[in-house]
This record gives sequence, C-alpha cells and structure tokens, in this order.
Amino acid sequence: MTWVASASAVLRAGALPVLVDVDPETGCIDARAAEQAVTSATRAVIVVHLACTVADLDALLAIATRFDLAVVEDCAQAHGAEWRNRQVGTLGDFGAFSFQSGKVLAAGEGGAVTTSSPSAFRTLQQLRADGRTYADDVAPGSMELVVDGTVMGANHCMPEVLAAVALDRLAQLEAQHDRRTTQADELERRLAAEALGIRGLSSHACVTRRSIYELALRVDVDAIGVPVDTLATALTAELERPVYPPHDPLHRSPYFSPSTRPRFRNQWTKDGAMRSVGRSFPGADAYRRSTLLTHHAALLGGEDDIDDFVHAFQKVLANVVALRNTSGVEGRAVSYS
Ligand SMILES: Cc1ncc(COP(=O)(O)O)c(C=O)c1O
Repeated sequence: MTWVASASAVLRAGALPVLVDVDPETGCIDARAAEQAVTSATRAVIVVHLACTVADLDALLAIATRFDLAVVEDCAQAHGAEWRNRQVGTLGDFGAFSFQSGKVLAAGEGGAVTTSSPSAFRTLQQLRADGRTYADDVAPGSMELVVDGTVMGANHCMPEVLAAVALDRLAQLEAQHDRRTTQADELERRLAAEALGIRGLSSHACVTRRSIYELALRVDVDAIGVPVDTLATALTAELERPVYPPHDPLHRSPYFSPSTRPRFRNQWTKDGAMRSVGRSFPGADAYRRSTLLTHHAALLGGEDDIDDFVHAFQKVLANVVALRNTSGVEGRAVSYS
C-alpha cells in the first residue's frame, strides 16, 4: 500500500522491487512477510509509513540487522511522526520525504532525504547535482556547488524558490500537526460513540506521535453491507469534499506496470515479475476493502467541521439500505498524490 514511486524508484535504480504484504489494520509493511521475502539478493527494505501511522520499526530494524539490509524509510506521508519519541526518517539508514503539493509540508514539488551517515550524505549530494557537492565556503556571487566527480549524478535539484516555500511552511508545521491531531482525536472519539461501524485505526503502541497526511478510518464493511467505494461517493457528496478509498495495492495498480518500459526489461523478466508480484496479498486487499481516507486539510478548520463529518456519517449510514440498492455508484478515484 503506497504510491507507485516507492517501487518505481527501485526499478530506476536497476533493482527489482519485491512487494510484500501489509498489516491489514495499518496498511504498513508486515514484518513477518518482509522477513519471508528476504533472499541472498535482497539489499534493502523500504518501509512506508502510511497515511497517519508508522510501520513496526522495531521488528523491521531487527530483520534488517539480522540480514544486513539497508532500511529506507519512505516518510512522504509521515513528516514529524514519532516512533518511541524519535522522528521517523532518523531510525533507518535513510528517510525520504516528499514536498509535493498534497503533503503536510508542501512546496509544490520536491523533497528531502535524511541520513546520519556522512559518506552517504556526500554521495547523495553528488547523485542530486551531477556529481557536485556543496562547497564549505561560498564567496558572494559564486556557485555553491563544487565538482567532486567521485559519483556520477543527475540533476535532481529542488528549485530554491520551492525550498523557500517549504521553509516558510515548516514554521507552521508543528501547530498544524497539533490542530490535525486534536480534530482527528475528536472525530474518532465521536465516531466510536456513535457506533456506526466506522472507527479510527489502531496504531502500534510505539507510535508516540502521529502525523496525519490522510486520516484513515476503518470500516466494518461486512456489517454495513456497502462497499467503501459507495460510502466514499455518498460521503463526498454530503461533505462536498473528498472522502475516498485507498489507491489499489501495487500488485493490482495500473500505476505499477514495468512491462511498459523497455529500460526495465532486465529486471522485469518472467522470473522477476513472479518474484515481485507473484503471490497473494490478503492484508493489502483487506486494507483496501475496509478503509476510507480523507485529506489532512479537512482537519485544519474549526470544531464545526467535525460536526459536519459526524452528521455526514450519520446520514449516510442511516441510508445504507438505499445505498445497497444503488447500482452503478462507484468510488471516484480522488487522489492527492
Ligand atoms: C508513500 C509515498 N512515497 C513516495 C511518494 C512520492 O513523492 P513525490 O511525489 O514527491 O515523488 C509519495 C507521494 O506522492 C507517497 O505518498
């Protein structure tokens, strides 16, 4: 369960992304499934902290140590989230952050990589700027990048104008985290009290702070008897803002189609494709089937917004019989990615 970039970046690095199943409660990588997928060819594990929670880092870091794997934390959806009071992106070898316009820290596009390894930091600089690193001293008017040339890179530089936007937004991030968390706690409390068959996700006990990119709600679809796609359409109509199911899991996602690119043919052989996606992913399918999402911006307003949410849920769930009989009402693929 992730945006396709978590896998396509692996292909572009010349490696094969091997998908593993997720915990159906959180949508984050299942440590046991990750362990079972390790072979002598495995080099790294990418851990996506999804929507509003954090993957089981204790278990994943232990597996990485045992098999000598690098850990890349995909924090595109988790800026500021904490595991045992440590910010995600500082527990693995690398943290990758997105500043794309929908994210909690948005610059328009761009991102950042974190590492505590000085040598990796240097290599990352070169990969980002055609083999150049930052100069120690920059004379006024001169270039701040100097040729190093020990690693050939490409131009992945974030425009400075966008970095300035991100820095400006960074100053607001803590207050926005607090506002979103207060609103989400209240919405989850009220949904639990209403007993509508919709509740907040249970996070791992070690998540000491959540960062809400998308508030994920768990739907008891079997009791309600209406697919999340239909509920999403009805809730979106009530609220006049998007409530939507997650993207399809990568193994059935139209975004993940390596066979369309000749440059991936060395990895995307018959064997490679089997190794990557050739098994079932019941946890991911269950998460997709039972989750509703709403974007973090919905949690930045006033308390009456939570009333609106609760009223919309009450109204939609009071009308499930009518919804069950609705034909042709399918979820709109609303996405901020
Ligand atoms: C989990 C995840 N990983 C990676 C990305 C890619 O980030 P970007 O759009 O900045 O390339 C996104 C978002 O788009 C994401 O949600």
